[in-house]
Amino acid sequence: MSAKVYVLDHPLVDHWLTVLRDRHTPPERMRQATEILTPFLLYQALRDLPAETVEVETPLERTQGRRITARLGFAPILRAGLGMVPAALRVFPQASVWYFGFYRDEETLKPVEYYDPVQGRPCHLDVAVVLDPMLATGGSAAAAVSRLKEWGVPRVHFVGLIAAPEGVAFLHREHPDVPIVVAALDRQLNDRGYILPGLGDAGDRLFGT
Ligand code: PRP
Ligand code: URA
Repeated sequence: MSAKVYVLDHPLVDHWLTVLRDRHTPPERMRQATEILTPFLLYQALRDLPAETVEVETPLERTQGRRITARLGFAPILRAGLGMVPAALRVFPQASVWYFGFYRDEETLKPVEYYDPVQGRPCHLDVAVVLDPMLATGGSAAAAVSRLKEWGVPRVHFVGLIAAPEGVAFLHREHPDVPIVVAALDRQLNDRGYILPGLGDAGDRLFGT
């Protein structure tokens, strides 16, 4: 199966992306913009989430509704993925949250793992969504997806704010079955692995470091 890349196209999304890109936007507003964008991304990514038809009684009559049956987990990559968690949990509070610790080595740009949340635990998830604002080289996202698959998750998605073409190509090559949903697909990486035009260092800008 070949993954799709879906880039949101909406004036509200563009508005909040512009807030995120602006170098003068302070951390509290970065977090606000991230929280506003995250539900739009999840709405698109989880269109096919398994659900069952159920009977529901309104104050006036019985009708049919749908209830999600999938055991859903969010898998934010520390640190920047943290910014997406509050909004993700508002959209689906029953989800479990699996925090992955990866940072990029500044020289090699390869992900270095410092926290694996799944080791030694049984896997009960049907669907996992990797949350990370930035898909740059794609190394961190691909590593998190590999862990989730090794753990036994049958279906994994990637949801982010901004992707570089290099990151999309890498994630697609490593995990062709993983659909990617982002708010923007930017031009390229610079020679230090930063996305252009991008928004800079997402973790630093979200948390004021
Ligand atoms: C950033 C970002 C991603 C990663 C993307 O994290 O949040 O996790 O870089 O880059 P990649 O696609 O090239 O792997 P960073 O390493 O800066 O860690 P931090 O969030 O803790 O600052
Ligand atoms: N990580 C970030 O936070 N920003 C980039 O542009 C690339 C990687």
